Amino acid sequence: MTSSYLPEDQRRLLPPGAGPFERHVFVCVFGKTCPNEGAEAVHAAMKDMAKGRLGKHRGRGHKSGCLGQCGHGPMVAVYPDGVWYAHVRVEDVPEIVESHLEGGRPLERLLFRGHRIGNNALVKE
Ligand code: FES
Repeated sequence: MTSSYLPEDQRRLLPPGAGPFERHVFVCVFGKTCPNEGAEAVHAAMKDMAKGRLGKHRGRGHKSGCLGQCGHGPMVAVYPDGVWYAHVRVEDVPEIVESHLEGGRPLERLLFRGHRIGNNALVKE
């Protein structure tokens, strides 16, 4: 008996601790600033495109609460890579999906470069 909930043929694809999706994308849609900057549309585009291009078992786009970087959004975080993007627009989504989610190359021009570990919010959460 194993503790894994994945089918046997899929277990070998994931390194330990990677989680069930190859690329799991979180779009902040509930905080102070991202919702006013088009985050819902970014999420909708990301959800559709990640699932459509990678398949629902490999790529997922989910809504996230505030990621603690208010004012830099819409914020997008990709796991298990731990790569974060700032100021993402709907028109950026295809490039993120193609370069990062499919190609494994984070999109340099939108990378979030926080000033410190943790909260980099420009406005109070
Ligand atoms: S509102 Fe998106 S990081 Fe806070």
